[in-house]
Amino acid sequence: MIEFDPRNLADGKRAAAEGATAVLDRDPAAEDLGAANSDQATEVAMQDTLLTPRFYTTDFDELDRVDVSSVRADWDELIGRMKADPNKKHFRKGEGWEAVDWDGMEPQLKKELIDFLISSCTAEFSGCVLYKEMKRRGSNADITELFGLMARDEARHAGFINDALREAGIAVNLGFLTQAKKYTYFRPKFIYYATYLSEKIGYARYITIYRHLQQHPEYRIHPIFKWFEQWCNDEFGHGEAFALLMKTDPKLTSGHNVLWIKFFLTAVYSTMYVRDHQRPAFHKALGIDPDWYAKEVFEKTSAISTQIFPITLDLEHPRWQKGLERLQRASLNVSDGKKRGGVGGTFTRVVGMAKAAAAFVSIYTIPAIRHDVPASTRMEPSY
Ligand SMILES: [Fe+2]
Ligand SMILES: [Fe+2]
Repeated sequence: MIEFDPRNLADGKRAAAEGATAVLDRDPAAEDLGAANSDQATEVAMQDTLLTPRFYTTDFDELDRVDVSSVRADWDELIGRMKADPNKKHFRKGEGWEAVDWDGMEPQLKKELIDFLISSCTAEFSGCVLYKEMKRRGSNADITELFGLMARDEARHAGFINDALREAGIAVNLGFLTQAKKYTYFRPKFIYYATYLSEKIGYARYITIYRHLQQHPEYRIHPIFKWFEQWCNDEFGHGEAFALLMKTDPKLTSGHNVLWIKFFLTAVYSTMYVRDHQRPAFHKALGIDPDWYAKEVFEKTSAISTQIFPITLDLEHPRWQKGLERLQRASLNVSDGKKRGGVGGTFTRVVGMAKAAAAFVSIYTIPAIRHDVPASTRMEPSY
């Protein structure tokens, strides 16, 4: 278990390298998490909790056996678009990249902005590592080609964020992360659900921020947001690929697997909700109400996911928003208990975890909305 303690950052590296277990125990808003240098930034990226981006590994042989012939026309078209590489020159600082006044920035905002960048960089790099490994291990030409193209994109994304972090005097040591960060094993079908949703929610998050700042440029606190429009099209395309992979096997989106889909939808949405509420200064500076933002992103992701999933979550159900708020409060209990330590702190933490579990069950058991799935998964980014 990574016991993240800002007073003892050096130990975190060893603890993580020795193998950590996930716990709902981190609250950047409540803890002094400001990464002041690259070592600390790497420490933050090393953390494995329910709320931080993880690295994944899977059964690469099983994934390599996927036969895409049933979706060949859509597949070839998607690969063709990815090979054309419209964003080849996009991830470079150029015109429109203004210097950021890191030294003059309000400390809490600086801390949360850096935390956002580190977390985004880790998430991008997590995709890169998984996709690259699949390309390396596979022998199926379709699969290795796709994963090679996606790894190319994610490497650019992570590198670009790291470039931005360097201006604040810090950088995530990506080589070290690859070696030392814990890898979570997921069966291929869980990789599909989790990664498909990560890509689509990533698209929805980036485009929602981009459109908001287009209307309110006065809130653009960092130039990187100007890059989000073309950037999110890469993520959209990656999501399209996972939708096609799922389409090759109807079992993946029917029967008892629908319960897994519901689980992943609930887990991905609620994680985003809790994590974003831990960055109040960041969202305030962007002029974004995190509740409004969550709703926008969930609605877009849900609408997109109808391309392949036979259910969507009932975001209007009275228990939904209440449950998210309960989960958020429980996560504060957990981090508060952890910070206090001792018997009292442990008690608070355990109670917090029980409350979080109860809140999660309460939203997971909201009846889902069923609908028909189209014959072709194909969709264009339209937000
Ligand atoms: Fe990406
Ligand atoms: Fe992606």
